[in-house]
Amino acid sequence: KKQAAASPVEAGSNKRARETDGAVTHEATATAPVNIAVIKYWGKRNEALMLPTNSSLSLTLDQDQLQSRTSVRVRAERGDAVRLWLNGREEKLSARMLNLVAAMRRLRREKEEEAKGAEELASRVLHVASVNNFPTAAGLASSASGLACLAVALDAALGLDLPRAQLSALARLGSGSACRSLFGGFVAWDAGVNNATGADSVARQVAPETHWPAMCALVLVASADQKEMPSSRGMQATVDTSPLLLHRAAHVVPERMRAIERAIRDTDFDAFAELTMRDSNQFHAVCLDTFPPIFYLNSVSQAVIALVTRYNELKHAKDSSRRFTAAYTFDAGPNAVLYLLKEDVPEVLRLVNAFFPHPSFANDNDRDEYYGQAKK
Ligand code: ADP
Ligand code: DP6
Ligand code: CO
Repeated sequence: KKQAAASPVEAGSNKRARETDGAVTHEATATAPVNIAVIKYWGKRNEALMLPTNSSLSLTLDQDQLQSRTSVRVRAERGDAVRLWLNGREEKLSARMLNLVAAMRRLRREKEEEAKGAEELASRVLHVASVNNFPTAAGLASSASGLACLAVALDAALGLDLPRAQLSALARLGSGSACRSLFGGFVAWDAGVNNATGADSVARQVAPETHWPAMCALVLVASADQKEMPSSRGMQATVDTSPLLLHRAAHVVPERMRAIERAIRDTDFDAFAELTMRDSNQFHAVCLDTFPPIFYLNSVSQAVIALVTRYNELKHAKDSSRRFTAAYTFDAGPNAVLYLLKEDVPEVLRLVNAFFPHPSFANDNDRDEYYGQAKK
């Protein structure tokens, strides 16, 4: 862990570039970290404004481990086309990504109208190239780092220079969880109550990472395969069919948000760990309560839950000064994230490696094939 940077996202400067035909363009590159929620966002009360059913809270991970890197090129060519290459393959932009781009182009247009003589960038073709250095769409929050990164790269490429809170709101239009990746450390996303503008549905830093420097995350990849049910579609199905979600949003999450903020303020690991595991469990319970049901956990995930549970029990059977050493949480996928304190990392890693032995591979291709990367 390094010292907390002022901002977890990094935007390269806007550079002039030349196309093969000699035309001058602008280009900027940004990087952004993932965040893994301990109180989960799952459900939108307003899809157009991307307003969540409940508040959520996450930790932003160190971006030299898991990150998205995105370059945006403002082409010399006029037009409103946008093309995206994700991990080296061209993909269609989702309607929500197009919304995000449209909103940022509008801001650029306003700026051009205000400052006469400003270079006209709002109606140029955009090329976006992004790579994630970790599995995409596998429940490791690639949409969070990816869309936060897109907002930051567009901001630089279009010369907007927007404040962080505004970039967070723009990133939310691309993916809800992305609004939290603009801030480092412990980050809440308040659901808000304004359904007309969503102005109070904002991410805010609860505490910087330096507040609790011993806090660590271990990311355990059980499968790098793309999930069958993307988060956006999954949570909409839950909103449409799960009675349990209503109970969760109205009667469980509000108190948990207060309790987790308290646990963070007091650096109370036991309270933090219990809330984290309970909330992961309840999120997967609402997935099962969706009709037809959604299963994101697999047998490896269940084994990780059993291992962490048994380890905590055995370790603290005699030493009752604490109840938990490690806490598991799972996003919308089978991959586990364990939150634990730095002093406990070596022991927990030994345990994980003993129970889930890592095969050794002759080369990267063999490894990627084993973990499912080859499919993408
Ligand atoms: P995850 O659990 O990884 O967040 P989601 O289903 O929420 O999975 O979102 C995955 C989708 O997010 C991808 O299919 C892609 O559309 C988008 N995405 C992921 N990474 C990036 C990126 N670096 N740039 C742009 N879009 C991205
Ligand atoms: C389980 O932010 O990926 O990771 O807003 O539709 O893009 P969209 O969904 P997304 O959902 C994340 C769900 C979660 C929990 C969380 O990150 O809070
Ligand atoms: Co996501």
